[in-house]
Amino acid sequence: MLAVILSGGSGTRLWPLSRRAYPKQFIDLIDTNSLLQNTVARALEVTDNAPPLLVCNQEHRFFIAEQLRQLGVGAAGILLEPEAKNTAPAIAAAAAHALHEDESDPVLLVMPADHVIRDIAAFKAAVDIARPAAEAGKLVTFGIVPAVPETGYGYIHRGEETGAGTYKVRQFVEKPDLETACRYLEQGDYYWNSGMFLFKASTLLGQLEKFEPDMVAAVGDAYKQAHKDLDFIRLEPAGFARCRAESIDYALMEKADDVVVVPLDAQWNDIGSWSAIWDVAEKDARGNCSIGDVISHDTTNSYLYSGGKLLATVGLDNIVAIETDDAVLVADKDRVQDVKAIVKALETSD
Ligand code: GDD
Ligand code: MG
Repeated sequence: MLAVILSGGSGTRLWPLSRRAYPKQFIDLIDTNSLLQNTVARALEVTDNAPPLLVCNQEHRFFIAEQLRQLGVGAAGILLEPEAKNTAPAIAAAAAHALHEDESDPVLLVMPADHVIRDIAAFKAAVDIARPAAEAGKLVTFGIVPAVPETGYGYIHRGEETGAGTYKVRQFVEKPDLETACRYLEQGDYYWNSGMFLFKASTLLGQLEKFEPDMVAAVGDAYKQAHKDLDFIRLEPAGFARCRAESIDYALMEKADDVVVVPLDAQWNDIGSWSAIWDVAEKDARGNCSIGDVISHDTTNSYLYSGGKLLATVGLDNIVAIETDDAVLVADKDRVQDVKAIVKALETSD
């Protein structure tokens, strides 16, 4: 089994700490290791120490190499994307590389670099359940039992049981609105899409070929003409540029027939927004998580981060306040998904 770690996102909802030039997966947001380093450590545990394959933007190659070096871990390769094309082309390139390097057609465990999983034993058990299905040619996804009507995740509608611990997927719904998410939660047969998958390299490429033949051809060309330089495999820019930018959810999982879901209860969290960080962070008796130089008075349930200046709060509840060198964010903790609107506005004003 080969772990494929996706590390090409830019983490816009964690602005102003996460920036395109240095995205969230490289930052030690939760503990002394970065999210990426924790993902690599998790991958090693689940795959019996098989070196993982990483896929990232070429601009971040030295961050990745340095963070692996700090862990003392080698990679099965670091695939470099000339530009961000979302997760479908990244996963297709990983599958092309896996098949090229290993004719036995390995099972790929796709792991985004921005997750926290506290219960590794439960994760490993779910992967064990998923493995026979993946080996039999299914696309397996891992579904998290939803705790709240989160609108930052995709949802999976579960169908009948297809094998021990695996269920048919009736429908994928990417990031529904709040009303729909509340309905799903009530209904009880929906999971959050964890964004982690298990499938054979050939299954992924074969299924993707059906729905996105141009993407598979473009990625194939970019891989065949890739420039190899130590662990780095630089995908050829012109071929990669021909790819449509698309997530694996839209490109494949929403459309394919042979998709099954394995429920996962492993204290999983996608560190996608400030409220998600507050959820997993250590908090004081008032429910505040304070990082750096912070004084708070009559403040509750808040995430307060000072990057250098003293941050002081009075009479606030459910707030996110982030102070960095060049920007300050103050937001309602229930509205933090909209931080990406700020980043969009900043990008268009450039
Ligand atoms: N290599 C590479 N290239 N990786 C990428 C790219 C890319 O162009 N774009 C995103 N990624 C990586 C990110 O770094 C992250 O680890 C992962 O792919 C998922 O991307 P996100 O941008 O974090 O997606 P999301 O969190 O909004 O939504 C996805 O994940 C949710 C759960 O974590 C969807 O799959 C949702 O349905 C799902 O619920
Ligand atoms: Mg994410």
